[in-house]
Amino acid sequence: MSYDLVIIGSGPGGYVCAIRAAQLGLKTAIVEKRSTFGGTCLNIGCIPSKAMLHASEMFEVAGHGFEALGIKVEVPKLNLPVMMKHKQDTVDANVQGVAFLLKKNKVDSYIGTGTIASVGKVLVTKADGSTETIETKNIVIATGSDSAPLPGVTVDEKTVVTSTGALELSKVPGKLLVIGAGVIGLELGSVWKRLGAEVTVVEYLDRILPGMDNEVAKQFQRILTKQGFNFLLGSKVTKVETGKKAAKVTVEPAAGGEAQTLDADIVLVAIGRRPYTEGLGLEAVGVTLERGRVVINDHFQSTVPGIYAIGDVVRGPMLAHKAEDEGVAVAELIAGHAGHVNYGVIPGVVYTEPEIATLGQTEEDLKAAGIAYTIGKFPFTANGRARAMQATDGFVKILADATTDRVLGCHIIGKGAGDLIHEVAVLMEFGGSSEDLARTCHAHPTMSEAVKEAAMGVEKRSIHI
Ligand code: FAD
Ligand code: NAI
Repeated sequence: MSYDLVIIGSGPGGYVCAIRAAQLGLKTAIVEKRSTFGGTCLNIGCIPSKAMLHASEMFEVAGHGFEALGIKVEVPKLNLPVMMKHKQDTVDANVQGVAFLLKKNKVDSYIGTGTIASVGKVLVTKADGSTETIETKNIVIATGSDSAPLPGVTVDEKTVVTSTGALELSKVPGKLLVIGAGVIGLELGSVWKRLGAEVTVVEYLDRILPGMDNEVAKQFQRILTKQGFNFLLGSKVTKVETGKKAAKVTVEPAAGGEAQTLDADIVLVAIGRRPYTEGLGLEAVGVTLERGRVVINDHFQSTVPGIYAIGDVVRGPMLAHKAEDEGVAVAELIAGHAGHVNYGVIPGVVYTEPEIATLGQTEEDLKAAGIAYTIGKFPFTANGRARAMQATDGFVKILADATTDRVLGCHIIGKGAGDLIHEVAVLMEFGGSSEDLARTCHAHPTMSEAVKEAAMGVEKRSIHI
């Protein structure tokens, strides 16, 4: 077979790229080594974790949130197999949805491991060992990432797990020790905390969620501590010994000092992810990698013409929506259109309770860049809808250029922050000012009013504080 475009990897980068390319009239094929489409995100990442976050939050609310609203219920009992079935059903519906969309758009699919045999040739090795070579004018590498290993710690996905094992536990661990206070550690720590585990998070740095707004991270740590999380910041795990049932974890201060040993039923290693390029044969065709990532130019082209790369396997945040937007852009560029991704406006969301949403530059970024800025901040304690929903934890913070008033960043901690952030994303895409947002009528009573009030706060004219 001969194609205009062959994509290796069917995660949010790859499958979205395939659909957009087909829409633009390119004869397109996708190669995936898993038996289902959708990549990390749909199979073992975004989707199953959000199914578990939702279900565990419902369990938490049923157990602790109803009484104050005048609803008396029996103490809820956990049926973990049913909760896991909900997770699996959600995954199945999503991966089948992608299969349907690929078919609908007439994208040919090949299940097997793709290797770039040479420019314009992809070798597919199927599960039974048989091979097939497909010819193509262009190749997009969209092979994603996998969990970064911690030297000296062996993952068995039973006692010492990555996110994949942490989404498959057959019972609630008595003690869960999480290594890394990043997105995975705090999301999956929240899941098992709500279901009854005692959760301790060991973080190398002296703060949680590095890279996110410091003030947001500090308040979030206070909230999580109130929820029952234990944090060991400025600490590193140096050894994990697994016995028949549990693990003994050696933790030392990051700066050196006396070690302590902690017991854990499950240890979750969540110290980041690394690009996945194994078996692609990149060295042989001359594609350059830098710290494991495929090096690309502004048009997603690797160091070899005709070979492109997108998503977790290239620079930038490892996020599904970033991979999707790159998938669309590279398809458009290959088809001769003007594809583009605005890396300054990519939201990041942590789907805990409350949620964290971050967009654009943080105060720390602006200080480092020497940009003069103004801040508007509004707490959810002063928002009527938040009070009605008992969701007063958190605030909205908007950062604007001190001279032009152009909005440069927005950071939210609060219920539904992941949805609230998008009006600011649209505003920033259009180069809008805090005044534009402040003068836009917002429905009452909504959590979104806090976004408007924060924008009004940039010029010190919030009404409700
Ligand atoms: P992937 O989704 O990793 O897909 C790559 C695909 O390529 C895989 O299916 C793989 O099997 C296939 N592949 C690899 N090599 C080959 C080969 N040689 N031949 C054929 N196929 C191959 N991001 C968010 O934005 N929001 C979230 O809520 C979120 N939650 C997450 C939760 C967890 C637990 C994890 C682990 C990640 C989460 N992420 C989230 C990150 C998100 O999953 C990734 O950013 C996203 O999946 C990257 O997409 P991708 O297309 O680059 O790669
Ligand atoms: P992360 O990069 O978010 O966090 C890793 C944390 O581990 C950091 O705080 C880091 O300082 C710490 N760390 C590193 N080495 C350590 C060590 N030896 N000991 C103790 N702490 C150490 O990585 P995480 O949580 O594994 O997630 C990987 C990626 O997956 C994220 O960066 C994100 O891109 C994506 N993801 C996105 C989600 C979302 O958008 N909601 C959800 C889950 C994952």
